[in-house]
Amino acid sequence: MNDERILIRRAGPLRGEVAIPGAKNSVLKLMAATLLADGTSTLTNVPDIVDVGIMGDLLAAIGVRSERVGPDTVRMVNDGNISPVAPYELVERIRASINVLGPLLGRFGRVSLSLPGGDDFGSRPIDMHLKGLEAMGATFELRHGVVEARAERLHGADITLDFPSVGATENILTAAVHAKGTTVIDNAAREPEIADLCNFLVAMGAHIGGIGSSTLVIEGVEPGQLHAADHQVVPDRIQAATYLAAVAVSGGEVVLRGARADHMEMLLRRFRDMGLSITTIGGALDGSDAGGGLAVWAEGRLRSIDVATLPYPGIATDYKPLIVTMLAVADGVGIVTENLYPGRFRYVEELQRLGADIRADGHHAVVRGVPQLSGAPVRAPDIRAGAALVVAGLAADGETSVAGVHHVDRGYDDLVGRLAALGADIERVDAPA
Ligand code: UD1
Repeated sequence: MNDERILIRRAGPLRGEVAIPGAKNSVLKLMAATLLADGTSTLTNVPDIVDVGIMGDLLAAIGVRSERVGPDTVRMVNDGNISPVAPYELVERIRASINVLGPLLGRFGRVSLSLPGGDDFGSRPIDMHLKGLEAMGATFELRHGVVEARAERLHGADITLDFPSVGATENILTAAVHAKGTTVIDNAAREPEIADLCNFLVAMGAHIGGIGSSTLVIEGVEPGQLHAADHQVVPDRIQAATYLAAVAVSGGEVVLRGARADHMEMLLRRFRDMGLSITTIGGALDGSDAGGGLAVWAEGRLRSIDVATLPYPGIATDYKPLIVTMLAVADGVGIVTENLYPGRFRYVEELQRLGADIRADGHHAVVRGVPQLSGAPVRAPDIRAGAALVVAGLAADGETSVAGVHHVDRGYDDLVGRLAALGADIERVDAPA
């Protein structure tokens, strides 16, 4: 682990243009999906983040090589020499490693997978993944922290998820593409990153109906019938929201090139309620043109709102640290309710060190806005909270120093460089010995 820090000093309004990289929560699943077919798949708009490297290492251990062949292009080479074993040293580093389960089980009928790690916020069970795959004929045994999964040939099934879990939807989907017959996933998660995965699978030759809806219908194909494909990763709505939050607390006028308004509708509505001006620019009105994006203006103090996190199309839990940070300097009192992960308020103590007035209890946080935060040393507890602390630093008097930068690097493609290019006073430094 390195001990770098990000230093931020308040610098006034941000101006300019920032390109929004591809989504971490999509690209990792697309990479795992290349286990489904032999051949070379090329992914573009791939963010330069640490988690892509970790997923690359995990897939290399299983048998798919990945190489970055351009700044945002990764080539995935599956020459058919697959060993369906996901070792603990790699799995524990990243939650998305669980996404190798569906492709390997559906295609090879067996997998040994250590239980996954990743961000450490509350317990994150995989019971819905296993229940769905069991309904398709798989059996599971847990021995010494390793899930041993077996299946002859999976068969189609009607599966209703108790909750629209992103990971469970993805694993059932990527198993079902090779199952015999039709699988229906009801109450499926419908995050844009899942639609992105569906579109990649269709490009590989899979038959999937209901893409983007909460009912996915998958007609399985014979193993061996899918083929490698090329795909452009959907832009990262969480990184886009981070730049919106940065402008919100700093003021200014910024264009977010590539951001998709149609993937962030609810959030944009609430940000407008807080006083931001946001318009869709260029391309199609739905923002689907890659040349398009969003323009944001912020002037004066933000207004407080109440927010509750929900599965898509609701406000994503990953936005929440950013929203709490914005509320910390807004005019009024805002209540934030977390409906997904009870443990996800740990960064609140760090924001309090910066002078934020926040009371968090269980699923709720009451945020009483203060006119000005005050810079201090803080530590990032996870990816999104780390980015939120950087944003808080933009709104704080004096210097804020954010440690735990390795968390930020897992999900952000040059956050420091991008903010500096917009005029922020920000730099990375080695921590003093
Ligand atoms: C993904 C995202 C994460 C985001 C989350 C919710 C990735 C790599 N991570 O995580 O950034 O915060 O979606 O938008 O894409 N649950 C169960 N049993 C299960 C599966 C989930 O109880 O079998 C619970 C979880 O503990 C959690 C909730 O369901 O409380 C949501 O989990 P899920 O949607 O599966 O999130 P992830 O795929 O882990």
